[in-house]
Amino acid sequence: MKEFNNLLENYSEGKTLPQEFYTNESIFSEEMKRIYHHQWLLADHVTRIPNPGDYFLFNAGKESIIVIRGKDSQVRAFYNVCTHRGSRVCLEDEGSKNLLVCPYHAWSYSNEGKLQAARFMPDDFNKEDWGLRPCHIKIYQGLIFLNLSITEPINFEEFIKPLQPMLEMHQPGKAKIALRKKYPTAANFKLVIENFTECYHCGPSHPELCAIHEKDWVYTMGGGQGTAPEKDTKEYLEKIKPWIADCKQRGLPTDTYLEEEGPFKQGINRYADRTPIGNGHLSQTKDGKPASTLMGKFDKFDGGLTQVSFNPFGCCYFTNDFGIMFSFKPKSLNETEVELIWIVDENAQEGIDYKTEDIAYIWDVTTVADTRIIENNQDGLLSQAYSPGVLSRNESGITYLYNWYFNSMRLSR
Ligand code: FES
Ligand SMILES: [Fe+2]
Repeated sequence: MKEFNNLLENYSEGKTLPQEFYTNESIFSEEMKRIYHHQWLLADHVTRIPNPGDYFLFNAGKESIIVIRGKDSQVRAFYNVCTHRGSRVCLEDEGSKNLLVCPYHAWSYSNEGKLQAARFMPDDFNKEDWGLRPCHIKIYQGLIFLNLSITEPINFEEFIKPLQPMLEMHQPGKAKIALRKKYPTAANFKLVIENFTECYHCGPSHPELCAIHEKDWVYTMGGGQGTAPEKDTKEYLEKIKPWIADCKQRGLPTDTYLEEEGPFKQGINRYADRTPIGNGHLSQTKDGKPASTLMGKFDKFDGGLTQVSFNPFGCCYFTNDFGIMFSFKPKSLNETEVELIWIVDENAQEGIDYKTEDIAYIWDVTTVADTRIIENNQDGLLSQAYSPGVLSRNESGITYLYNWYFNSMRLSR
């Protein structure tokens, strides 16, 4: 950590980070240990594993987690590490199994993680002591969260509380997966989450997103509330007051949640807001028209967009008719996997109620562009000519993100 503190001396607020934050292996492993492993990570939607024995792997950094439905229908999570000599047990990303058999010496585990068979073991060997090591898991509204902390994680119920009103409005627990797509990105995870924290780049890089949303929204809300100067944000919020009043009257939450100081200092960084897409658009689609049937508690289209962020590594966006789950998984120092999962109402039928291409359009084209600009950012940043640049007034989300990052890195854990 001495190394981190030394590096920090070269940081000045309002500027980007010095190069070494993106190139130093030991900083990366400290980041995983101090930050990533303490978050409730948005992993997937529960409908991915509907039947007993169905499983998928959640792979990030050096960790691989098996998320599997047991014969009792309960979903559990285990480290993908054989308790014999440490081999990976599951090698395929997803599947369905009656028994998890380690490919090395064939120790086998039940879907509930218990060791079932191990040959030629000493007489005093007790199988009950050698089950797969569990990983913290919680399921809320159909969303699977993992926490890779090896100690007691932060309380999930308290963690999810401020985000509940928005999530319950959209009811992802009554949804199903329509599509998933991975966007492997050859860049350090901080460049990925920095990019997701600002919409200064939206004008030049996302013409499609700018064509759907109102200009003021892109400027003041695109990177979350507080990323544009206060005066401009106030003006925008004043303008959408009638829309907010209508939502309130219908009992729908619209209040922005910005992280409180106490949790923020403890490395927690949640966010939620709800605003109109604008331009008379009812959904985040190419022509602004609905792309599927209504989801959650809505009885009409109001053209709102909800953003719920669990931490900088995962968030959900919801329109009235579909949702997108975003996750940003650090793979190594300069590789990050971005994954998007689109969800629709559980009763919506493909081809009749929705077309996958309609719901996928905007965030697919936007994420493809993001991958490209982030990789360009990484390439340029590695040059000997790089030095920290000055952030614009439309990128204060990045300074906020850095504050959370520095706070988290300094916590003793
Ligand atoms: S390492 Fe798994 S059975 Fe030996
Ligand atoms: Fe972007």
